Amino acid sequence: PASLGLPLDHRPGLARHMINADGADHARLRRLVSAAFTPRRMAGLRTRALEVTDALLDRLDGPEADLIAGLAYPLPITIICDLLGVPEEDRATFHHHASVIDSAAASEVEEITRATDALESFLADLVELKRSRPGNDLLTDLVRRSNQGEIDKDELTSTAFLLLIAGHETTVALIGNGLLALLRHPGQAAALRADLSLLPDFVDEMLRYDGPVRNATWRFPTEPVVIGGQEMLPGEPILVSLLAANRDPAAFADPDAFSPGRIGEPHLAFGRGPHYCVGAALAKVEGEAAIGRVLERFPDLALATDPAELSWWPSAIMRGLFSLPVRLHG
Ligand code: HEM
Repeated sequence: PASLGLPLDHRPGLARHMINADGADHARLRRLVSAAFTPRRMAGLRTRALEVTDALLDRLDGPEADLIAGLAYPLPITIICDLLGVPEEDRATFHHHASVIDSAAASEVEEITRATDALESFLADLVELKRSRPGNDLLTDLVRRSNQGEIDKDELTSTAFLLLIAGHETTVALIGNGLLALLRHPGQAAALRADLSLLPDFVDEMLRYDGPVRNATWRFPTEPVVIGGQEMLPGEPILVSLLAANRDPAAFADPDAFSPGRIGEPHLAFGRGPHYCVGAALAKVEGEAAIGRVLERFPDLALATDPAELSWWPSAIMRGLFSLPVRLHG
């Protein structure tokens, strides 16, 4: 239960964010942050994502590397911390707590609780910092809105928590799982290398084929409902498996094939409906920057381990790799 977020439900300073809100409150909380994700902002972030990717890839100097530690982790954390205004010196601490919360096994309750406590006080301090030293960032903007009464104190720290967590491990997993899909499909990788304008189609198929989020967040029926022959009663907690939905043969032809450019149903990797991922455009920008640059810079890239040896996070929410060992040169 811990890794599914249950203990957090009892923490107003972390849980009062848009995912846990409906109706007018949801719309208000979502509106306050969606301005940060406009197409114009995305264009700027694309340049920044390419810059950060290049700097990270410059550091890989051996014949082999781990593309999770070397690229997939540091890129999204840098971008989301830039966006929110997390100071450089605090980023490693934040990263540690966030990765425990997102990718630990459900049984590691104590560790998750400790990390959650630490992150809660880290965020409270960060909000105070933005009050005393405003910056040109999303968190400063939210602090200003809270002074105007548009968002209360708990909603403010909860929103910062949601963005830091949601904007981080998810994208790590997109880059890692996506690169793995390419490494396991060399013919497709060659086609993409030959025409990088296909990147958006490839990233979209990576999201469907092996998406970062296993289950959507909790849903609770408000009236009795029958789906797929299963009756659900009001108030029962429901988890929807996004990964299973994305391999549904009723929705996707040959669902287990990695087939970029497929037409038909949209996938569910970013959810659907009012809670559709706010950061979807940003995640794609980062995924395209990272995967495109790796292909360009390492024409002979190959997996340096047996795929069966790869180790996956034990999390019930997220599907991502602990490491992705590759040979950079032929
Ligand atoms: C590949 C990367 C990502 C994936 C696969 C992903 C997936 C999702 C999914 C499935 C949901 C809906 C959950 C539900 O309905 O229960 C969601 C919501 C959300 N995501 Fe993402 N996400 C990604 C990246 C990001 C990034 C980069 C950010 C922010 C910077 C972000 C922020 C959010 C927020 C704020 C919500 C809540 C929206 C709402 O409740 O209205 N996500 N995401």
